Amino acid sequence: MEWGMANRMAQLIQSDGHALFLPVDHGYFQGPTRRLEEPRKTIEPLLPYADALFITRGVLRSSVDPDNTKPIILRVSGGTSMVGKDLANEGITTSMEEAIRVNASAVGISIFVGSDYEKESLLNLSKLVDEGERYGIPVMAVTAVGKELEKRDARYLALSSRIAAELGARVVKTYWCEDFERVARGCPVPVIIAGGPQVDTELEVFEFVYDGMQKGAIGVNLGRNIWQNDFPVAMIKAIRAVVHQKATPKEAQEVFSTEKEKAGKKS
Ligand code: 5RP
Repeated sequence: MEWGMANRMAQLIQSDGHALFLPVDHGYFQGPTRRLEEPRKTIEPLLPYADALFITRGVLRSSVDPDNTKPIILRVSGGTSMVGKDLANEGITTSMEEAIRVNASAVGISIFVGSDYEKESLLNLSKLVDEGERYGIPVMAVTAVGKELEKRDARYLALSSRIAAELGARVVKTYWCEDFERVARGCPVPVIIAGGPQVDTELEVFEFVYDGMQKGAIGVNLGRNIWQNDFPVAMIKAIRAVVHQKATPKEAQEVFSTEKEKAGKKS
């Protein structure tokens, strides 16, 4: 691996081999998502606990100070919206030159396997990988399911993740699912778990993150289940304990409760 590529990968994946990415890119197709309406307010308290930020260039420039030293994964696909015809019909929105200009450590793009735009999204990924490899910038592929959340099963996610790796993604972001080991085993590059819509309890989040990591994920790219929680800092600290300190779901719950109590006393 070239020095630049290796250096960027090392910025993203920590020395223990694990990673906690914080995605705040949701507005690129969802608009002002709940509790991300004012991105700076959401990002600032959480940034110290994230290993990298997954973000669009617009929110990066408007809502993150340039003296931030956390690695940036730049969201470079888009062009669709929740109210448009088809979320899968994405294109590349941001050039590699722009990624270099904002000193991105990686770029991220969604692929929509099984959709009407499967081929376009996969060719977009391939083109981005060609450019990224030229400049030593890793590509993170996001195995998107659009509105079809029922697609989050091992068969579909293993298929999408493997295809992303075959086309050259250096990291694959997918969802946790039952039999997650099938997804991780079939994907020869590091796999990260996204959260999806907020689930009912904190414990459920700790459980799926823990299970995914036991079964081969190297970390998370977890957004709404952190920043839509009433105690987002407590939540990210507890997830960090699972990702980087091998905490069990029960131990993570204890971290959460302690941090929540501290936050309660401050307010
Ligand atoms: C949006 C994304 C998000 O980065 C991803 O879904 C992770 O966030 P969440 O945990 O909220 O699902 O790719 O398209």
